[in-house]
Amino acid sequence: MFYAPILAPSLLAGDHANLAASAAAAAAAGAPWLHFDLMDGHFVPNLSFGAETLAALRRAGCRLFFDTHLMLSEPHRYVEAFARAGADLISIHIEPAYNHAATLARIRALGCQCGIVLNPGTPAGAVSPLLDQVDLVLVMTVQPGFGGQPFRRDMLPKITQLDGWRRERGLKYRLEVDGGIDLATAAECRAAGADTFVAGTSFYRAADQLAFATTLAQLP
Ligand code: DX5
Ligand code: ZN
Repeated sequence: MFYAPILAPSLLAGDHANLAASAAAAAAAGAPWLHFDLMDGHFVPNLSFGAETLAALRRAGCRLFFDTHLMLSEPHRYVEAFARAGADLISIHIEPAYNHAATLARIRALGCQCGIVLNPGTPAGAVSPLLDQVDLVLVMTVQPGFGGQPFRRDMLPKITQLDGWRRERGLKYRLEVDGGIDLATAAECRAAGADTFVAGTSFYRAADQLAFATTLAQLP
């Protein structure tokens, strides 16, 4: 494995009437990252937060690494706003038609790390030409749009493939999974090569969030 496991609790499953408390719960459990799901009601059939949500949490004192997952048809129009709002990493989907390479370069130029995301139906080959430009590849393990969906075990070969390419080509991107991740499915993804784990429902509903985060961080 290249990297120690990182937990990124997904704020989508937090308390939308008190997101600062939900962010603080992630920090208190020892999670280093916080995952934001930005939805436009077009690329995915749901709405969630905006850049102002990130900015407000920064103003409220949240210092976690902001892992920003843009589920937008036109993400290139919004990367400046998210960088300004306090994003540390901005991930964009490969599926919509826009200039992916230029948008990744723009995210870098704004001082953020950049990631590329694949829906379950998108083969790994679709992002192959971009792999030397990204800090992270996010393999969706559910169809994006909603939390609480079952893990797609058929995504494990895609994770293995992207881990293999990383080794073969000497690349350094993190390999993140998102959707239906709990301690059991995280272990399966870890065995396939993943190192970065988004957990919404499983983390925010955990009886003991500290134990959850500690167990995940110790995955072999
Ligand atoms: C799905 C989002 C996920 C979601 C995961 O569209 O990208 O980040 O919050 O939620 P769980 O962990 O509940 O599947
Ligand atoms: Zn997400």
